Amino acid sequence: MRIVLGVAGGIAAYKACHVVRELRERGHAVRVVPTRAALEFVGAATWEALSGQPVATGVFTRVDEVEHVRIGQDADLVVIAPATADLLARVRAGIADDLLTATVLTTTAPVVVAPAMHTEMWFNAATVDNVAALRARGVTVIEPASGRLTGADSGPGRLPEPGDIVAAALAVHAEHARAGGDASGALAGRTVLVSAGGTREPLDPVRFLGNRSSGKQGVALAAAAAQAGAQVRLVAANVSADILAGLPAGVDVEHVETTAELEAACRAAQPTADVVIMCAAVSDYRPAEVAAHKMKKSRDAGMRLELVQNPDILRGLVDSRTPGQLIVGFAAETGSPDAGIEELARAKLLRKGCDLLVLNDVSAGQAFGTETNTVVLFHRDGDSVTEVARASGTKAEVSRDVIAGLVSVLSR
Ligand code: CTP
Repeated sequence: MRIVLGVAGGIAAYKACHVVRELRERGHAVRVVPTRAALEFVGAATWEALSGQPVATGVFTRVDEVEHVRIGQDADLVVIAPATADLLARVRAGIADDLLTATVLTTTAPVVVAPAMHTEMWFNAATVDNVAALRARGVTVIEPASGRLTGADSGPGRLPEPGDIVAAALAVHAEHARAGGDASGALAGRTVLVSAGGTREPLDPVRFLGNRSSGKQGVALAAAAAQAGAQVRLVAANVSADILAGLPAGVDVEHVETTAELEAACRAAQPTADVVIMCAAVSDYRPAEVAAHKMKKSRDAGMRLELVQNPDILRGLVDSRTPGQLIVGFAAETGSPDAGIEELARAKLLRKGCDLLVLNDVSAGQAFGTETNTVVLFHRDGDSVTEVARASGTKAEVSRDVIAGLVSVLSR
C-alpha cells in the first residue's frame, strides 16, 4: 500500500525514521512529507535514503504533476508522526500552505496522527479543542505516551514507540477498508497477469526504437488488482524503479525489454492466470538486424532502417486462452478524420477478440507519463460490444474503476 508519512518539526522527528523503516520492511511504499521545520531536525537526505522516494516540503515542487494534490489522492493511508501542536492547529483549520497540510486536505484515505509535544502544550485548551475537532471529523489521534520529554521535564506528550504507531496506523487502515466495502477481496483467490510499460527494440548496443509509455497506468492496475485481493504478476517493460515503488507488497515483478521478451514472459504466465491485462505499449516493428557495434553516421547520406513486424502478443494470448480466462486489451487511440476514438476502440475489440478493452485517449499527448487518465471500458460478447464503465481521474482512481468493471464482468 502507499503510505504518506508526514513529519512535523519536533525533536521526536528522529523516531519517525524507524517508522519509515518498519513500514518499508512490511512491504509498503512510503512517501515522507516533512514540514520545513521538520528538516531542521532530520534532513531530506535521510528521508530520501530511508524511503527511496523524493522529499519536498512546499506546494511549488513538481507543479506540472500537481503534486500537492496528487500525493494525498494516491495515498492509501496518511500517518503524521510526530504531529506538533502547531500542525494540529493548522490541520484543524484546513490550512494548506505547505505540502503536508495540502496532502491532508486532499486525501480521502484514513489519517492517523501521533502528537508529540510538551505536557503544557498537550493540555492547553487550544490543543484539546483541536484534537477533539479532528477526532470528530474521523481523524485518529493517538494518545501520546507519558515519560521523559526533551528537557528535564516528564509527563504526557512523548511520541509513542515507532512499533506502536505502525501497529495503530495499520489497524486503522484495515478497519477503514472493511467498513468501506471497497473492491477488497473481490479478486481473492484469483491470479492476475498485467503487462506494463513499453517495449524497446535495440538498433545497436546504444540505441533503440521505443515509445513513450511510462508504465504508470499498468503499475496502478497491478496495484488495484492486488488491493482487490488478487495474486498479481507484473511483466514490466522498461518501467523505472520509482514508478514500481508504488506497488504493494506481494506483487511479483518480472522485467523485460523487448517485445520478444514480453511475449515469452506473458506466454509463460498465461496458463495460471484468471485475468490477463495487456496494458503494455508494444512496438509493432523491430529492426531486421541489430548491429553488433555502435552504428556510425555516414557523411552525407541519410539512413534506411529495415523493420520487420513483431507478433501481436494480445492476439496470441487470445488464441491460447484457457477456459474462463478473461483477457483485457488496451487501445491507445488518437482518432482520425474518418473515425472517432470510440468507433476505433469497438472495432479493435472485435478484431483482437479479447473480452474487454480499455480505451485510452492519447490525442494531444494525453496519457503518456501524466498522472491522470480518461478511459472507457468496453465488453465484447460474441459480436456485440457494450460499454461497461467510464472513468476519469488519477491513474490509481481509473484503475480501481477498471478493476471494479472487470469484477462485474467476471461475476456475470
Ligand atoms: N498489442 C500486443 N502486441 C502488439 C501490439 C499491441 O499485444 N504487437 C496489444 C497492446 O498491449 C494493447 C492492444 O494490443 O493491449 C492494442 O494496442 P494498440 O497499439 O492500440 O493496437 P495495435 O494492435 O497496434 O493496432 P493499430 O496499429 O491498428 O492501432
